[in-house]
Amino acid sequence: MNYRHAFHAGNFADVFKHAILLALLDALTAKDKSLGCFDTHAGSGSYVLDDAEPQKTGEWRDGIGRLFGAKGLPPPLRRYVDAVRALNPDGTLRRYPGSPLLAAGALRANDRLVLCELQHGEAAALRALFRNDRRVHVHARDGYAALNALLPPPEKRGLVLIDPPFEAQEGEFATIEAALAKAHARWPGGVYAVWYPVKLRRTIAPFHRHLAAGPFDRVLAAELLVLPDDSPLRLNGCGMAIANPPWKLDAALSAMLRVLCRLLAQSPRASQRVWWLRDEP
Ligand SMILES: C[S@@+](CC[C@H](N)C(=O)[O-])C[C@H]1O[C@@H](n2cnc3c(N)ncnc32)[C@H](O)[C@@H]1O
Repeated sequence: MNYRHAFHAGNFADVFKHAILLALLDALTAKDKSLGCFDTHAGSGSYVLDDAEPQKTGEWRDGIGRLFGAKGLPPPLRRYVDAVRALNPDGTLRRYPGSPLLAAGALRANDRLVLCELQHGEAAALRALFRNDRRVHVHARDGYAALNALLPPPEKRGLVLIDPPFEAQEGEFATIEAALAKAHARWPGGVYAVWYPVKLRRTIAPFHRHLAAGPFDRVLAAELLVLPDDSPLRLNGCGMAIANPPWKLDAALSAMLRVLCRLLAQSPRASQRVWWLRDEP
């Protein structure tokens, strides 16, 4: 595996994914009952933007770099940017949190966070980051296989974030579909959020058709394209498919993505969309 998330930390796709992750966790923690949360592809948990990898691509400049100093953000985006600002208390953007650190910050004392990461260096970094946090459990193993072993969680409520590197390109969708089918059989009521890249949008259509056919009754999709989706050679945008989304998440994400699209656009043809792939209450 060649993928290293440090090259991409804080880019527009991370901003999109992490703002949605916090909106999901805030909605779930609004109820008292404890949560079991899973991050199947966790990365290293925290990134230093001065390091060689982020500096080499500079991708974060067109991501969190555009939001960090922004004023007048609507509440869900302000909440996400505040979480990044908390990691940079002197007001200069140097560190960027990965999904594990953001999730750990949003969860409560009685919630549990399970992190899976296949690369040993990244898993070791996660263990060091969370060595004093008993709510967090790090597994240096395949995230899809871990779901099979660990679902359903004893808490019965919670979230699974599936954020693979898509090194297998479109082949990753088949792996995700198989994992979701098994996860649904074990834990049909869990909330599942799957991030995916958009290069040519038509290549995503089979995945959307698959989700529209079940087994989950309600599946929401959200997409942000910072560039037109007319070249397979670059990341034009990204999406999140969310099975069993919390109540009113569709309206919250629509409002959030309208602002994000304006802030992160790299072309006048940037666009965003939130819609139901399946809605059978
Ligand atoms: C896109 S990055 C994750 C970023 C992280 N979720 C975040 O938002 O901060 C994908 C990670 O998945 C890891 N990975 C790849 N295949 C995996 C697998 N089958 N199981 C667990 N981790 C895997 C990679 O090493 C990489 O660190």
